[in-house]
Amino acid sequence: MNMASARLRAALARLSGRSRSAGPARVGAMLGGDPLVTGPDASHGVILYLEDITVSFDGFKALDALTLYIEAGELRCIIGPNGAGKTTMMDVITGKTRPDQGSAWFGQTIDLLAHTEPEIAQAGIGRKFQKPTVFERHSVLENLELSMAGDRSVWRGLFARLSPLERERIEEVLEIIALTGRRHEPAGALSHGQKQWLEIGMLLMQNPRLLLVDEPVAGMTPQETERTAELLTALAGRHSIVVVEHDMDFVRSIARRVTVLHEGRVLADGPMEQVQADPKVIEVYLGE
Ligand SMILES: Nc1ncnc2c1ncn2[C@@H]1O[C@H](COP(=O)(O)OP(=O)(O)O)[C@@H](O)[C@H]1O
Ligand SMILES: [Mg+2]
Repeated sequence: MNMASARLRAALARLSGRSRSAGPARVGAMLGGDPLVTGPDASHGVILYLEDITVSFDGFKALDALTLYIEAGELRCIIGPNGAGKTTMMDVITGKTRPDQGSAWFGQTIDLLAHTEPEIAQAGIGRKFQKPTVFERHSVLENLELSMAGDRSVWRGLFARLSPLERERIEEVLEIIALTGRRHEPAGALSHGQKQWLEIGMLLMQNPRLLLVDEPVAGMTPQETERTAELLTALAGRHSIVVVEHDMDFVRSIARRVTVLHEGRVLADGPMEQVQADPKVIEVYLGE
């Protein structure tokens, strides 16, 4: 049903002769409410549609007709050997890389291939890169304020001007990332794991519908890894989350649906136990 609906929509868009730049989002805006502002329509239960996505670098296919759907509220783990195309897939979703072929939709109304990186971020897709990029000299609280301000030149003294709702959100996020007691400490004083959580917190301040997280537990202690699994599990439902991760214990502890990528395609997909027992997966990945 999902595949059919996405294909149908793409076909209808082609038939009606809309150009990419004037795409469905613009049509949505005319009908009432710019989807970039109102957010994605996931009323069909799917938050992300990737269909037949191919990305070539000098003839080499980093993604090879990749098709993948993420359900609204889902926490999905993506694994796969180095070079499988995991980062390239995130680059396509966030608008950093344009595919040669295929379609990518955020809910029913937002054509990701018709929007720029900042527009996609504004529409509600947050991306956490591997390396934490918090502002070390500023406090935990200031880092969260800053991420809410957007414009980095105006952050100073912002907290005093926040609405009660915004303050409430900051408190809520501090609680989620387990840094309530450390709010006044400089971010530079946090452990590596805590910095990763702070950065996730900074993304949460934007209230993303879809959160893409690249190798969150690399370099973490076992306790931090466990806490990160809890944190992401707690966020699922309210947010849809795609986690790329090498740490198999972590993926196992999340115990959700797992998709294995290999050579730019989906090699296997299902519950961890099933994927782990799949001979194809053992051959290319677990036996690596
Ligand atoms: N900008 C690029 N130019 C050329 N080749 C690239 C580029 N980005 C990625 N690749 C290649 O595409 C393949 C997939 O890379 P990537 O998406 O980073 O894999 P993963 O994140 O799963 O390790 C790799 O073989 C990589 O070398
Ligand atoms: Mg990668």
